[in-house]
Amino acid sequence: MKIVIASDHGGFRLKQEIIKQLEGKNIEYEDFGAYSEESVDYPDYGQSVGEAVASGKFDRGIVICGTGIGISIAANKVPGVRAALCGDCFSAKASREHNNANVLALGERVIGVELAKMIVDVWLDTEFAGGRHERRVGKIGNIEDKYRK
Ligand code: RB5
Repeated sequence: MKIVIASDHGGFRLKQEIIKQLEGKNIEYEDFGAYSEESVDYPDYGQSVGEAVASGKFDRGIVICGTGIGISIAANKVPGVRAALCGDCFSAKASREHNNANVLALGERVIGVELAKMIVDVWLDTEFAGGRHERRVGKIGNIEDKYRK
């Protein structure tokens, strides 16, 4: 599995922790920045991860900002992206099983590092359940098609 990860300044420190976790799990990843705590704009990072996942170059993405909200909204604007903002393991598991989420969003200012790592573990280890969920996820794609220019 190939992962792309990015954050703004508000998610930088947590991103560095998650990168260590990915390295510990021998998971291939690319870090799209930010590379310091200098102030940047979260939409740029949500977009770049969204595009990298939607293009098929990466299997899944992880985006982090202060709350996880702005960067997940930005990533979700890219057609084909299903970014899930998760603050608990139940939602992380369900976002994979039910929604086939291909991007995980985390809020550094909202959850602790250890919880974030548990969420990442669960999210990476859970597969899409398919079945009835296939139809529903397909309907999300239909919404994108309707508004595609
Ligand atoms: C940056 O201060 C903060 O607004 C950003 O990290 C994020 O929380 C936006 O949703």
